[in-house]
Amino acid sequence: MYIKEIKLENFRNYDLEKINLNEKINIIFGDNAQGKTNILEAIFISALGKSFRTNKDNELIKENKEFSKVEINFVKNNRNEKINLELSNKKLFYINEIPIKKTSEIVGKINVVLFSPEDIEILRSEPIRRRKFLNIMISQLRPIYIHLMSQYNKTLEQRNNYLKQIKYENKSKKNLEIWDEQLVKLGLKIYEYRKEFIEKINNKIKEIHLKTTENKENIEIKYKFNINKENYLKKLKENIELDIKKGHTSVGIHRDDFEIYINNKNVGIYGSQGQQRSSIISLKLAEAEVVYDEIEDYPVILLDDFMSELDKKRINGFINNIKNNQVIITCTEKISLDNMVYNLYKVDNAKIEKL
Ligand SMILES: Nc1ncnc2c1ncn2[C@@H]1O[C@H](COP(=O)(O)OP(=O)(O)OP(=O)(O)O)[C@@H](O)[C@H]1O
Ligand SMILES: [Mg+2]
Repeated sequence: MYIKEIKLENFRNYDLEKINLNEKINIIFGDNAQGKTNILEAIFISALGKSFRTNKDNELIKENKEFSKVEINFVKNNRNEKINLELSNKKLFYINEIPIKKTSEIVGKINVVLFSPEDIEILRSEPIRRRKFLNIMISQLRPIYIHLMSQYNKTLEQRNNYLKQIKYENKSKKNLEIWDEQLVKLGLKIYEYRKEFIEKINNKIKEIHLKTTENKENIEIKYKFNINKENYLKKLKENIELDIKKGHTSVGIHRDDFEIYINNKNVGIYGSQGQQRSSIISLKLAEAEVVYDEIEDYPVILLDDFMSELDKKRINGFINNIKNNQVIITCTEKISLDNMVYNLYKVDNAKIEKL
């Protein structure tokens, strides 16, 4: 699939701007703070329903403006399609001009894999960052997953509130059972999806990583599920006293994690900077291949400020690796690619100029 055209109105620092893309490689360059990442953010929000850098939608509306609009024209399965977003005090999405009731309904129409400088946090940061990676990938491919997650989170919040009521208002412990059963039911479904997708990633990432490391590094992802199918309910019950004391639920899929191993060592702990960076690239490339298998089409690859970390040889090698996808690259320097056709755009203070 590929994106043909993006229209922005009052989005971040943009007034009214339009950009036509080619179906292969597009390079958007410009100084810092001119509006490069904002373009990728507009695409991302049209694909996933929310931004990758904020949960507050009103930050996306240009300062002192009442509303913001994004339009993405794209081609998928040889059909022209359109997604519109209107942000004001409400957030409205349209698919081919038909208004959508729930944001989750637009997720997966546009398929993207984003590479950003913050991705290294997947390795270095808290488990929540790794769950976010899984959630973004799975949501795009299994719309029901979004629903399961939101149900799970709601139930978890209710259980946690009730734990506090047991502690402070002497409510009966017996009633916890209702939430426990619900958590196990939803949690196991979410667990199955996560397990399935970690397996899919594992099937791809090995080969990708061997290729880029001259067969030296054997990479593997290990899912850390703090409970198992059989003892989920039992563990919840075992922890009740602790949970009441803490006021939150200590076991369940909201505590899931995964680790990346290279040659049987945890990269997050023992990996060099180069190994960490290259394992994240392999992880994302594996994600792109998993998406391809699922939708039988190539997702759009968004590379935010990604090239600054790589030398020219690696940039060319990397781009050669993903030659079937549409690629949208942002960078601060005008880069040139050998033997490749690409569009070049300069962004200067929220004005986009095609060179
Ligand atoms: N709601 C908003 N209204 C007006 N301007 C905004 C709004 N939100 C962000 N901006 C501005 O948008 C500008 C560009 O942001 P963006 O992240 O796209 O920059 P960039 O070109 O990617 O820069 P860098 O190279 O540093 O990553 C920033 O100067 C920021 O202050
Ligand atoms: Mg940026």
